[in-house]
Amino acid sequence: MSISQFDSIPNNVDLNSDRKLQKALLRWQPNYLDWWHEMGPEGFQADNIYLRTAISVDAGGWAHYDYVKMPEYRWGIFLTPRATEQTIGFGDELGKPAWNEVPGEFRKELRRIIVTQGDTEPASVEQQRLLGQTAPSLYDLRNLFQVNVEEGRHLWAMVHLLHGYFGRDGREEAEDMLVRRSGNEDSPRILEAFNKPIEDWLSFFCFAMFTDRDGKYQLAALAESAFDPLARATQFMLTEEAFHLFVGETGVDRVVRRTAELMMQDPNGDVRKLGGIPLDIIQRYINEWYSASLDLFGGEDSSNAATYFATGLKGRYKETTKGRYADHVALGESYSLDRPDDKGGVMTEDIPMRRAMNAVLQDSYRSDCERALNRWNKSLAKAGCPERLSLPSPRFNRLQGVFMDFAALPDGTPITREEWESKRATFLPSEADRDYVKSLMTKVYEPGKMANWIAAPAKGVNGRPQDFEYVRFA
Ligand SMILES: [Fe+2]
Ligand SMILES: [Fe+2]
Repeated sequence: MSISQFDSIPNNVDLNSDRKLQKALLRWQPNYLDWWHEMGPEGFQADNIYLRTAISVDAGGWAHYDYVKMPEYRWGIFLTPRATEQTIGFGDELGKPAWNEVPGEFRKELRRIIVTQGDTEPASVEQQRLLGQTAPSLYDLRNLFQVNVEEGRHLWAMVHLLHGYFGRDGREEAEDMLVRRSGNEDSPRILEAFNKPIEDWLSFFCFAMFTDRDGKYQLAALAESAFDPLARATQFMLTEEAFHLFVGETGVDRVVRRTAELMMQDPNGDVRKLGGIPLDIIQRYINEWYSASLDLFGGEDSSNAATYFATGLKGRYKETTKGRYADHVALGESYSLDRPDDKGGVMTEDIPMRRAMNAVLQDSYRSDCERALNRWNKSLAKAGCPERLSLPSPRFNRLQGVFMDFAALPDGTPITREEWESKRATFLPSEADRDYVKSLMTKVYEPGKMANWIAAPAKGVNGRPQDFEYVRFA
């Protein structure tokens, strides 16, 4: 697969041979750059950042590391190459050739899927635009910007599909991607979770751990899509996404490790006195971010999900991985779904498997999150700390899905709404919690130094030492 690095849009889609598409993207590019200047990381556009840039799709050597000013980052278009013609891996069209063009009957749905996914990418950059000003280290500052530029590239990936396959509608949607703004009253981002600013680094790590991880599962479901350009685009996005999840998971782990260390230092285990983040605050952040991220999966019992699966638009996590699912048609199977009964309790109901596809994806996500929780708890155990963190029940604090507006404790026990409200500050971050966390957020820009509330990472980026100058300020 040939890569043209010297084009103004690096790509492996042979953009040079499609003048119309090339022209459309070149026209979109300056608007994108305007958006980046206006809404990208504030105060760092002239600095040199040690960043990774995607330069190919080879598993071994796809990334190049060097200093770059963010506005000069080479945002490119890369699709995972195909050795053979693809066939559809699931649903009613199982085994038929995958689509290289958008079938007319699914045009609206596919466009909506791509626009919704694409919209989250610039949204997260907007949510995080002030965070650099309170980075706990140069290592973290650099990682934040790495995530930001790659979310920018993911927008490019979706915009390429809109321009390339959806004609005039697609061009308009691509423009709108740069018009909506996170938190803007008149033109907000599409999904609610992407409309509130991320104002402290514990929130950022939780976002990258839980919300970006929802993104991973959405992308993985689209990576199975019968619309092959979408499948190939999202497969390559997942390669970059792995790093974002690493930033989140290890970020929370480093906060937990530092907290445990400080708990051991103070005879009363009082972490606040030593300038750390108490474990109960970390737990409340986990409760909030995990429950909000579950909402992004859509209803657990969903006719839309059934249609998407039947028609081949969206599969399950690793749908075509051998041995994971016995049956890729999923007719005649059922799923046992917990849902509220009419007496304030919980009942289990069998629903057709296809209707439960969002729940199935949520289950894959949950076990991934549980794996990370175990890791954080190991860090606590290793430090000699007897306390443990946990993942809240899917019934807790939901604004979407079957448990929407259901009142339950984090462990899933149903309670009355009044009791829930009175206990709220014990299981969700209070204003006082947020203010306390924010009070710890002061920038540390000296190479190798860490803010007091977070442990150093296990190693540096790309084999570089921890005290490497990851950001060179202009
Ligand atoms: Fe992304
Ligand atoms: Fe991401």
